[in-house]
Amino acid sequence: MKFESRTALITGGAIGFGRAFARALVAEGASVVIADVDAEMAERTAAELVSAGGGAIAVDCDVADPDRVDAAVDAAIDRFGGVDIVINNAGLHLTKYNQPFGVLSRSEIRSLFDVNVMGVINTTLACRDSMRDRGGGVVLNISSMAGYLSATPYAVSKLTVRGLTVAFATELAPDRIRVNAIAPGLMNTENAIADLPRPLIHEFVHRLQLVHRLGKMDDIVSAMMFLCSDEASFITGETLKVSGGYPLNF
Ligand SMILES: NC(=O)c1ccc[n+]([C@@H]2O[C@H](COP(=O)([O-])OP(=O)(O)OC[C@H]3O[C@@H](n4cnc5c(N)ncnc54)[C@H](O)[C@@H]3O)[C@@H](O)[C@H]2O)c1
Repeated sequence: MKFESRTALITGGAIGFGRAFARALVAEGASVVIADVDAEMAERTAAELVSAGGGAIAVDCDVADPDRVDAAVDAAIDRFGGVDIVINNAGLHLTKYNQPFGVLSRSEIRSLFDVNVMGVINTTLACRDSMRDRGGGVVLNISSMAGYLSATPYAVSKLTVRGLTVAFATELAPDRIRVNAIAPGLMNTENAIADLPRPLIHEFVHRLQLVHRLGKMDDIVSAMMFLCSDEASFITGETLKVSGGYPLNF
């Protein structure tokens, strides 16, 4: 199996993309640490993976808090011996954060950047030593197509994630750690779809994309599996768009 004897720490792994990543990695032999602020849902996801025969633990973790991230990495080391793969997936992405900066309060803006930006920094730095000690590793950041196109607080946070991908690819290269990102377009996770107005979803699928269907979980999972695997061993510092051709039809 592709990820036999590797351990992946997945932030925001309780539901959505993170849970789909965890299921796919476990199916290929990896053990996973579900680090999520929704402790109950994280436990449920880990239990599902364990009952399917996989190695999984849940850790109650807010990525904005470096101490709690350190504790999640300690738990990964205690249970599985270390971390080989980090998926920086936890993110705030409600419509609320796609309004102009001036509409949001400072504390709302700070919360967004604490999770979407500081969360990536906290988690990547916390896992660095363990990956280095195991001979190298992979970091995968989840950015967004918004980070190419708009200038809302959410979009700027995801543009920063692309910047961090380049910065950490450079900084962690001496430790044989590759760092890449995926920029998803509109994907059918429950929370994203529930949050968006129907006409906007229709506009994306039927006009803005070149591939006229909603993005599926499998689309993003297969990109993740490739970038985290040894098949991508010559790829670092890249952001891969998974968006059905959006925004080429813009
Ligand atoms: N769904 C989309 O269409 C889409 C498109 C582009 C980018 N993204 C990005 O993909 C990532 C995952 O999106 P999703 O749709 O699966 O989200 P989701 O809302 O379904 O799941 C997010 C998970 O992150 C957890 N989380 C939130 N804040 C956290 C924190 N501070 N610490 C730890 N965990 C936290 C939540 O509890 C939840 O389990 C996000 O970074 C999002 O911005 C999603």
